[in-house]
Amino acid sequence: MNQLFRKKTLNLMLAHSEKKELARTMSLMDLIFLGVGCVIGTGIFVVTGVVAAESAGPGIMLSFVLAGIACALAAFCYAEFSSAVPVSGSVYTYTYATLGELFAFLIGWDLMLEYVMAISAVSTGWSAYFQSLLAGFHIHLPAVLTSAPSVGKGGFIDLPAVLIILAITALVSKGVKESIKFNNMMVFVKLAVILLFIAVGIWYVKPDNWVPFAPFGLQGIVTGAATVFFAYIGFDVIATASEEVKNPKKTMPIGIIASLLICTLLYMAVSGVLTGMISYTKLNVGAPVALALETVGQNSVAGIISIGAVFGITTVILALIYAQVRLTYAMSRDGLLPKQFSKVNAKTKTPFANTWLTGFVAAGIAGFIDLTTLAHLVNMGTLAAFTLISIAVIVLRKKFPDIKASFRVPFVPVLPAISALLCLYLALSLPFITWISFVIWIAIGTVIYFIYSRKHSKLN
Ligand code: ALA
Repeated sequence: MNQLFRKKTLNLMLAHSEKKELARTMSLMDLIFLGVGCVIGTGIFVVTGVVAAESAGPGIMLSFVLAGIACALAAFCYAEFSSAVPVSGSVYTYTYATLGELFAFLIGWDLMLEYVMAISAVSTGWSAYFQSLLAGFHIHLPAVLTSAPSVGKGGFIDLPAVLIILAITALVSKGVKESIKFNNMMVFVKLAVILLFIAVGIWYVKPDNWVPFAPFGLQGIVTGAATVFFAYIGFDVIATASEEVKNPKKTMPIGIIASLLICTLLYMAVSGVLTGMISYTKLNVGAPVALALETVGQNSVAGIISIGAVFGITTVILALIYAQVRLTYAMSRDGLLPKQFSKVNAKTKTPFANTWLTGFVAAGIAGFIDLTTLAHLVNMGTLAAFTLISIAVIVLRKKFPDIKASFRVPFVPVLPAISALLCLYLALSLPFITWISFVIWIAIGTVIYFIYSRKHSKLN
């Protein structure tokens, strides 16, 4: 029993982070760009249309508010932890210090599901915009190469999704500095096209399109929130970079909160303009933002937006691969995963083999599973992590009352408790099959913990 709940002491963690195997090169701006780069992507460019058409109608604006509140509460908890424990591994590391090794391993295992599935899901969204861009030039890929079999459009493999993952993997494996530079440039492009969409689209908004506002009732808005939650995923990725930022105690909390605020405002504006431009019933397509502009005759703006979406979604894939590698790096360094995962390549200073393994697995999944199934699994994994981190903040305050953090969650334990309950409530709106898959994944993780990780843990 003691072994299962043994905890890493905070001093031990800080000592680890001071070894500085990874170079500290990122500034606050880099961090906000990493956050925004990871958050705005397939969620806003693709999932928004599906949710408006199938569950929320124009009420999707409220779905974004609800999902945004859940994320903001969890973000506070992340911010407190990341400023108190600025070490690689995010919620995994925080859980290790508060709830003990078994929970830490399981949450790390859960995050691996979230990140790998998210890399795959986001790439299928990238593929949809890429194909719509090609279609603009009258280029059409053979149907078998365009989507996963479950999409039902005659596809066998989503080849563009597979190829983009492998290309980004190659970039990330070359080194942090190169990747961050590339990321910053692409995030700029993405923000520019989103603002362009709002600036052009707003003139075509017809308030009649917002009626009925909630065609599927309140439940539709809540179900919508559980799905558009996907659009917010990624801000937690910033917390995994704490060993590579300068002055993490100050930089981390500001980075997390600023990224989330920027994204929330943009999402509300985009979904409002989108559902105001055309009837929500027409939005269930691969590239809804481009469709809305074409419908009002703005074809060239639609083309620019599609190019921007392709670039924009690329940065999300990059940030997610980065996060997955850092997480398994941290788990491996603690002995919970084989040590190959934390082997840093002398030349590139990155966990090279780990990065490529991540790329290959995610590419394999992206080729054969559809976006909605993947997105639901990602949301489930994330909501579980958010629930746990909210509980962990309460434990942190109780067990380590003297710990210094540059950011502290207000109204503990009330606020983290609301955060945990809200995440649980959203998770309950996800399909039954998602719950089954999630339970199976956690069961496999538990077996691995008892067979491998418990014995190899550095705490032994
Ligand atoms: N939030 C990320 C996206 O929307 C996962 O693509």
